[in-house]
Amino acid sequence: MIIQNTKLTCFIEQSRIQQRTTEIAHELSKKFVDQTPIFIGILNGSFIFLSDLIREMTVPSEVDFIKVSSYAGEQSTGTIRLIKDISADITHRHVIIVEDIIDTGLTIKFIKDRMLEAGPASVTIVTLLLKPDMVKIPFPVDYVGFEIPPEFVVGYGLDYDQQFRYLPAIYRIEGNVNE
Ligand code: IMP
Repeated sequence: MIIQNTKLTCFIEQSRIQQRTTEIAHELSKKFVDQTPIFIGILNGSFIFLSDLIREMTVPSEVDFIKVSSYAGEQSTGTIRLIKDISADITHRHVIIVEDIIDTGLTIKFIKDRMLEAGPASVTIVTLLLKPDMVKIPFPVDYVGFEIPPEFVVGYGLDYDQQFRYLPAIYRIEGNVNE
């Protein structure tokens, strides 16, 4: 399909995302039975995945957000900048960090290190997408929705220069129709 002069092809259908999100929510619910974990969503990209995930949980939870920036267009700038910090006190809390996509891993490493400074009871990492060929982090990612090749994808919260976040599935950018 073509949206705003950009050719997009569907990469992961909405029904597959829903099914995988439910599976992860059930695993997290088992892990945190009798607990009230706090989800920390990384803005902006994780907001749709996070909202679907918490509604499939069978244990109560709390939610907060953190915002960092490292990307301009399709390129990571390599430097992470904190734009909005969490407001909750996470000391002795079970923290679940929710990311839309892990590419190099720089963002998730920055945020995990920052969360650990507050002395949480545990830190669990959930990402909808992971690019295993790109990632360089010294710790495992606990829950991965889908592993994908190192290509730029949009939709279901993920953007290209703030576009396409609203799309209900995940798409690959094939190029600009004017080029
Ligand atoms: P990392 O720090 O290299 O792991 O990059 C993580 C962040 O980069 C994600 O939270 C996204 O905001 C952005 N990002 C990386 N790859 C993509 C992509 O394919 N589409 C959209 N955003 C991406």
